[in-house]
Amino acid sequence: MPKLDDLSRDQAYLVHSLHRREAQAKAHVWVRGHGAVLVDQDGKEYLDGLAGLWNVVAGHGRRELADAAARQMTELAYASSYAGSTNRPAIELAERLAGICYRGVNRFFFTSGGAESNESAFKTARYLWKLAGKPDKSKIVSRVWGYHGVTLAAMSATGIASYWPMFEPRTPGFVHIESPYPYRFQGAADDTRTLGEQAADLLEAAILREGPETVAAFLGEPVQGAGGVIVAPDDYWPRIREICDRYEVLLIADEVITGFGRTGQWFGLARYGIEPDILCFAKGITSGYFPLGGIGVSDRIAAALDGAAEDRTWMHAFTYSGHPVGCAVALANLEIIEREGLVERAGELGRRLLAGLRTLSSHPHVGDVRGLGLMCGVELVADKASKAEFPPSEKVGPRVHAATQERGLFSRLRGDVYNLAPCFVTTESQIDRMIDILGESICAVLGP
Ligand SMILES: Cc1ncc(COP(=O)(O)O)c(C=O)c1O
Repeated sequence: MPKLDDLSRDQAYLVHSLHRREAQAKAHVWVRGHGAVLVDQDGKEYLDGLAGLWNVVAGHGRRELADAAARQMTELAYASSYAGSTNRPAIELAERLAGICYRGVNRFFFTSGGAESNESAFKTARYLWKLAGKPDKSKIVSRVWGYHGVTLAAMSATGIASYWPMFEPRTPGFVHIESPYPYRFQGAADDTRTLGEQAADLLEAAILREGPETVAAFLGEPVQGAGGVIVAPDDYWPRIREICDRYEVLLIADEVITGFGRTGQWFGLARYGIEPDILCFAKGITSGYFPLGGIGVSDRIAAALDGAAEDRTWMHAFTYSGHPVGCAVALANLEIIEREGLVERAGELGRRLLAGLRTLSSHPHVGDVRGLGLMCGVELVADKASKAEFPPSEKVGPRVHAATQERGLFSRLRGDVYNLAPCFVTTESQIDRMIDILGESICAVLGP
């Protein structure tokens, strides 16, 4: 019997993330990648506008990463990292991270991805407060439009409501506040505080409403990614740190996207001169060549973990924590990022991308263009004066997505916000081409 084609077999045997059967009928079967380019089954090349899913920072087709994995698999493919066991790549990676991470974050636990990292952070925050004799401090405050993954607790922290309804009830103890979304956040008209201060003070209001004795941690992405690349005003994060300190609330930075250079610095909060108590990472640490994530904890939390009595052990674990192959790939990837100066390059390319996208602002339906480092968003609106959105039934976002693909650019949108977060090795002319394609596609869908 002849073999069915790829897409028929895909539909027969696979369930996809955010599964939609009709999307699979015309899915790309990605077969190859090199640099910032992806190639599908028809041999058509696409500029990878989102570096995979924000993760392929060093670009596609890196032999060096494959070699690092093969070497490690040949030597020691797997070993437990449960207490009493360890391995050299994990030790070396943790030591290396301590060198590039925030000054007060020097101890690391590894996971297989972003949601597992956030789950680990929530549990560690609760654990710390229980050790400190404050067992009621268990709630996590996060933000509308925040994306933190979709395991049950991470989904409950995620502030994009479309992820919830078919999986409710959500995990109790998760609270959301508005985002510091400069384009849409309406401060009070007679308020003398800046918008950044007002948005940060929503955290204080939530803590007081819930009761400070019940709040374990605040969780936020330094720059919100999947929710539409939302960049907070510069005075937001320092005030968030102050509020967390005032009410003994831990600050968890979800740096799953912003970690490892995306904002033009190694980690995203550095720009604001503050440090988190817990840092969550994944994606860029291996450029997506191996599923690896983790958390970094402050020296205070590390000391608490070390000093806990046996009956209060941190009973948290993953089979693949400290995976020697993942850690070896991460080390090789960090070596590439350092050797090729990719953090600085992300900053430079990001400035070029943002400046280019800003030239699209004259279009009557481009409401906002924003970004930091190599992550940018272009928000399309029905009416610029009122900032009114298009009705979802007009499917503006999906139509723009289709138009960009026809022209050889592939990325993702949040509603009608077109997100761009390319690989750090994208060339200047490829960046310029992405801007041109997006501009042409917006005109093709919405008129000149
Ligand atoms: C900021 C952030 N946190 C967490 C996650 C979840 O990561 P994963 O899909 O690896 O669970 C993502 C994924 O896009 C993310 O962007």
